[in-house]
Amino acid sequence: MAPSDRPLLARADSQDSYREANEEDALLTGQAAPASESERSRWQKYREAGLSIYALLATITIIALAIVVNHESKRAHAKLPNNGWGEDGKPTGKRNLIFMVSDGMGPTSLSLTRSFRQYTEVLPKEDVLVLDDHLLGSSRTRSSNSLITDSAAGATAFSCGMKSYNGAISVLPDHTPCGTVLEAAKKAGYLTGLVVTTRLTDATPACFASHVNNRAYEDIIAEQMVGNHPLGQVVDVLIGGGRCHFLPNTTEGSCRQDDTNVVKMAQDKYGYNYIDNREDFDNLQARGGVELPLLALMADTDVPYEIDRVHMDDVYPSEAEMAELALNALEAASKDSAAKGFFLMIEGSRIDHTSHGNDPAAHVREVLAHDKAFATVLDFLNDSETPGVVVGTSDHETGGLAAGRQVGQAYPVYAWYPSVLANASHSASYLSHKWAAYLDSDAGQKASRKQKAKFIRHELFERDFGLYSILEEEVESIIDATIFWPPSWIFADLISQRANVGWSTHGHTAVDVNIYASDPRHAEALIGNHENIEVGKFLADFLEVDVEAITKELVQKGVRTHGSDESEWSWMGPTNSPVSEEGLAQSHEHQDIHAELLNSRSGGRFEAQIREDRILA
Ligand SMILES: *[C@@H]1O[C@H](CO)[C@@H](O)[C@H](O)[C@H]1NC(C)=O
Ligand SMILES: *[C@@H]1O[C@H](CO)[C@@H](O)[C@H](O)[C@H]1NC(C)=O
Ligand SMILES: *[C@@H]1O[C@H](CO)[C@@H](O)[C@H](O)[C@H]1NC(C)=O
Ligand SMILES: [Zn+2]
Repeated sequence: MAPSDRPLLARADSQDSYREANEEDALLTGQAAPASESERSRWQKYREAGLSIYALLATITIIALAIVVNHESKRAHAKLPNNGWGEDGKPTGKRNLIFMVSDGMGPTSLSLTRSFRQYTEVLPKEDVLVLDDHLLGSSRTRSSNSLITDSAAGATAFSCGMKSYNGAISVLPDHTPCGTVLEAAKKAGYLTGLVVTTRLTDATPACFASHVNNRAYEDIIAEQMVGNHPLGQVVDVLIGGGRCHFLPNTTEGSCRQDDTNVVKMAQDKYGYNYIDNREDFDNLQARGGVELPLLALMADTDVPYEIDRVHMDDVYPSEAEMAELALNALEAASKDSAAKGFFLMIEGSRIDHTSHGNDPAAHVREVLAHDKAFATVLDFLNDSETPGVVVGTSDHETGGLAAGRQVGQAYPVYAWYPSVLANASHSASYLSHKWAAYLDSDAGQKASRKQKAKFIRHELFERDFGLYSILEEEVESIIDATIFWPPSWIFADLISQRANVGWSTHGHTAVDVNIYASDPRHAEALIGNHENIEVGKFLADFLEVDVEAITKELVQKGVRTHGSDESEWSWMGPTNSPVSEEGLAQSHEHQDIHAELLNSRSGGRFEAQIREDRILA
């Protein structure tokens, strides 16, 4: 049965007639209701049978739930203040803290993903995401210099517990470094880790283990992250993408400006075990115990979007798999040692990127992957003998995502259509890369406009998006796309329109974001509405570490690891960047793009990728 044909709404609480239910189905799928009488009676039977089975199951479930909830709450209460937990809601001794960042995930992301999952997995409308079940409060996200933050200022609020300017990587508005919770944790005897699905040198992970004046200094960030830093080596587990910033410019696949080999530096100088492929990753996973420190660079740049990654599972691990490896490694290493426990930051980094691309089909898969990683962490905490907590939040919302959209001048229907997103098997970004590759191929170079249109319709919209209702002028708009409104944005807009999903921007927004925790009693300070720096303060407070002492040490030890001219810039890179001064996180990237456009042989043909890949901030 095609997804759109399922008798989706055969639900116990829906007492309306078949006709209404069927219309409701149509509202969810965007498909016209089936019309024939025989079909109607067939559905009627399904529906009635479904209703009685459902009613019975629902009764049994409610009774079972009542027993479990009762039992669980007794068990949980019994845990306090025993089992290592003190009266103050904090562990009395050894403890683990996992901090999960859902970059760019706003409240609408949850609504959209929840309905998407109910639709694709045929779940009842009461079914919620794991995150939904652990909602605690909300966070206000502005930075020191703008009502709309970027990920650098957002993560500095978490790592240092201080507001700073857009683009700041754990430095303050006066360009002095601020100590981070990860550095303080390491100093206090905890093991530490960072797991991300983007480049390890990107803003969020960078803020925990490096200090630079501008998030664009990813080459410096890579070095600091492995230990070329006033405090030395502070991260025990590093798993994610961004390999290109660790390889010297003389190597294939490098994106460094210089010939420093940061992988070799990590291995020789700071003792890291290094892996860079799925096979080694799986071997480590199977072995359980991993020798620390570990540097696992699983992708040149970003790990592919989940919607694309599932087709390349033999190359790239998922967020949940990377989280699990880190959790097991840190748990094993802290078991019989003097370690106080561990601090691990896990980021669903690319939720943000799907929203920068306004790509709802990729977005819901990315949120689901993060939800799964959150569940993995909950399971870990439940099984671990060491008391611990997971706190999750976002640095900001991206895209101005709306679960509803007016398309055209007619009064809008009250509906959005998960089925449209379910039909897609790839991201808009994948489609645009495939289109670029086609144009570069022999066939593409010889193709007439008509042949190009055919390729776009059949090989992209139909095969990869499962979209069959694309108009001729919409196909043409892909052929005529320019760098300023690239093909990937058009692909994404067309699938958004068909799903009735809206976006207000390709950038970030200022809406408050959610805060989650494994157990509200272990994160009481975060119940309700908070400033993002209070999340950072909670992290340091839970671990009982002194971030200010680290700040003092950093300022004292502020040695020059880069540059020879004292007057020019310190170890944290130049301060005179457009980012730090104006809070324009992408301005230098815009300049790059324009330069590439001018240099481009093909006059703005596939700078789409350049724009798309660079502008994500
Ligand atoms: C590689 O880096 C070195 C400095 O470390 C520089 O002199 C050289 O020009 C770079 N080569 C390329 C191809 O960028
Ligand atoms: C937590 O662990 C207990 C015992 O190990 C198990 O019975 C229970 O199902 C687990 N709960 C969750 C939510 O995983
Ligand atoms: C989804 O795919 C099915 C075929 O698998 C197709 O019949 C249906 O029209 C598609 N939905 C949309 C909105 O294009
Ligand atoms: Zn962003």
